[in-house]
Amino acid sequence: MPKVTFLPLNKTVEAEVGQTLLEVSEDHDIGLEHACGGVCACSTCHVIVQDGTDNNLEPQDDEEIDTMDKLVSTQTVHSRLGCQARVKGDVTVQIFNWPPREM
Ligand code: FES
Repeated sequence: MPKVTFLPLNKTVEAEVGQTLLEVSEDHDIGLEHACGGVCACSTCHVIVQDGTDNNLEPQDDEEIDTMDKLVSTQTVHSRLGCQARVKGDVTVQIFNWPPREM
């Protein structure tokens, strides 16, 4: 099973291949924000991938790219939306909105 490490918590949990980072967060009470409920409309689930970007997450689709371009002014080359990024292998991600503003 892939391992996902969430920073700044420095908490590592196991994930199923194909789960989104948001689903992994929800399964383990991590606290990744998701104001739109995970439908790629808000960008509150913004994460910055620290390790594992190229091989261990499914690539961005057009919907995620469009939302990132419109909503994420703090976007980096390693930014992803947690509700869209699907796990393939071990990854480490920095939660951008931390501590969470809502739960
Ligand atoms: S939860 Fe809204 S874009 Fe990911």
